[in-house]
Formats: sequence, C-alpha cells, structure tokens
Amino acid sequence: MNLPSRVKMVEVGPRDGLQNEKREIDVATRVSLIDRLSAAGLPVIEAGSFVSPKWVPQMAASDEVLAGIQRKPGTVYSALTPNMKGYERAIAAGADEVAVFGAASESFTQKNINCSIEESLERFRPLLERAQKDGIRVRGYVSCVLGCPYEGDIDPARVAEVSSALMEMGCYEISLGDTIGVGTPEAARRMIGAVAAKVPLEKLAVHFHDTFGQALANIYAALQMGVAVVDSAVAGLGGCPYAQGASGNVASEDVLYLLNGLGIETGVDLQLLADAGNFISHKLDRDSNSRVARALAG
Ligand code: HMG
Ligand code: MG
Repeated sequence: MNLPSRVKMVEVGPRDGLQNEKREIDVATRVSLIDRLSAAGLPVIEAGSFVSPKWVPQMAASDEVLAGIQRKPGTVYSALTPNMKGYERAIAAGADEVAVFGAASESFTQKNINCSIEESLERFRPLLERAQKDGIRVRGYVSCVLGCPYEGDIDPARVAEVSSALMEMGCYEISLGDTIGVGTPEAARRMIGAVAAKVPLEKLAVHFHDTFGQALANIYAALQMGVAVVDSAVAGLGGCPYAQGASGNVASEDVLYLLNGLGIETGVDLQLLADAGNFISHKLDRDSNSRVARALAG
C-alpha cells in the first residue's frame, strides 16, 4: 500500500457548505466558524467566494468575512474566483490564495458559470497570468469528474484533459470534484489513474460529496494511490446550487477520524473540529451530518 504519511486537509465548509444554505447566514457566524476551524488546526480554509452575488447570494459579503476573521499564522485563507473581476475582489479582500473552477462536463459548465469549457479556460488564463505576477497561488477545480447531473457518465479522459489544461496554465494543485457524489472506489481509481498520467499525482486533491454515502470509501481508494490532499466540509455541510440533488461534502470530522485511524498526520484536532461543526449545525438548527461528531456527542 502506498498511503501518504501526511495529508493536507482543505476545509471547504465556509464556502462549498454555506453557499448552498437556504437561510441567510450572517457575517459574524461565518467569521466565527472560520476562526473555530483555524483553531482546530486546518491548514487551508476556503473562506468565501467572489462570484456574482446574483448567482450565489449566500457568498455575498465574503470581503466582510475575510476582514473579520482572526488570521492564524501559517493558515491559508482561500476564495473561489470565476473571472478577473472575482480575482480583483478576492485580492482586495485579502485572500491568500484563489481557486478557479472548471468542469469536465459542457452542460454543467454552462449552468454553473454560463460559458463553455473552452471559454472558461480562456477566462482563467489572464487571471492565472495576473496571479503569477502578484505571487498568488491558484488552485484549479474540475467538477463532475465521476458524473454530471445533466450528462450522466463522464469520460476520465475528459477529466484528464481539463486537469492538464489547468495545470499548464499555472494552477499549483488540481482538485477533482465528484460534485454530485455518485462515484464508487473503482471508478475513482480509474479516473485518478487517467488524470495522473497527465498531471503529477502529488498535485492532485480529491473533493467528494457524499450523496450516495461513498465518499470515505472513495477517499481511501485515493489515499491508496498516494493522493495526499483531501477536501471536506465540517459537519458535512454543502452542495452546489447548480447541481440538483448534490448533497453535502464528506464531513471533515469523518475524514479526520479515518486519517487518524490510518496513522496519517494532519495537524488537526478532532475534538476542536467537532466543536466547530456542532457550532454551525446549531446555528443552522439541525443535527450535524458528521457520523463522527454525532458519535462523539454520545
Ligand atoms: P454572467 O452573467 O455570464 O457574467 O455570469 P457577466 O460577465 O455577463 O456579468 C453579469 C453580471 O455579474 C455583471 O453585473 C457583472 O459585473 C457581474 P451587472 O452588470 O449585471 O450588474 N459579475 C460579478 N460580480 C461580482 N463578482 C464577480 C462577477 N463576475 C461578473 N466575480 C459568472 C458569469 C461566472 C459571474 C456567474 O455564472 C457566477 O457567478 N457563477 C458562480 C456559480 C457558483 O459559484 N457555483 C458554485 C461554485 S462551483 C462548486 O460548488 C463546485 C466545487 O465545489 C467543486 C465540486 O464540488 O465539484 C468547486
Ligand atoms: Mg463541491
């Protein structure tokens, strides 16, 4: 087995999680959630998103969120940016790092960012050039890597193509998103294998939603291949507003419990992480989606 000795956990709850909530979440709650996640030791926290507020109103005021947090030295606070306008807003707000987001499906790209895959890549190019000049690192997401809500199955070769285009443009890491959570371990293995033939494995991250309850099994398969960056959302928050039926991300607490059990280092404290998840679940007036958090609560 080829398990990594250390994994970087990328916490996407404050963005991928909260972007899908029906109820309005005030800035103070978003800030407090992020501060709790920093305290738990997460190395990277996606704090918000600089997309059009008409498209995703939940992520409006991401600049106020970034201004309000207590920055923990060494923690990276990142933000989603679909275009140059988003990039400029994110940098003005003090994001340490940004992420562009493409997809392996034409239809999803249209619904999500209102352009074709080709056009999306052309939009990202100047952003990446500018970020390079500014010394800002850019992550690249590829959505729908194991299935699309509009097109069904996705060819791993397509995922590999989009991933390598983003890498060539200058992304330092590619996060492979099972946006609708339909993947199973063998499919994940095949897809990661196809991408790893074009992009070095150490540049890959996995981003699983847990719609069909397969996320942890998929993550284990990815770890066995040597993938050492895993995205998750505290309390299993999440979903994508442009992917009907997509449920929450895999819960960070559950991922950490798995990694702890495998003896893989993360630098994250399970109890503090569960506390952060319980805090936001309480604010949202519902039980945590993390099995581990519920078990710890007794
Ligand atoms: P558009 O309507 O084609 O854009 O949307 P436009 O350039 O024609 O602009 C329309 C209006 O939006 C203009 O304002 C622009 O100024 C404004 P108006 O003149 O009408 O007043 N605008 C902006 N405002 C603020 N910030 C910006 C920005 N850009 C334009 N950055 C656009 C194109 C990309 C903007 C839109 O489609 C959009 O915002 N989409 C975001 C969708 C989104 O956030 N989806 C969820 C995130 S992806 C995800 O969750 C998947 C992931 O987790 C991985 C996985 O799970 O697989 C990452
Ligand atoms: Mg997602």
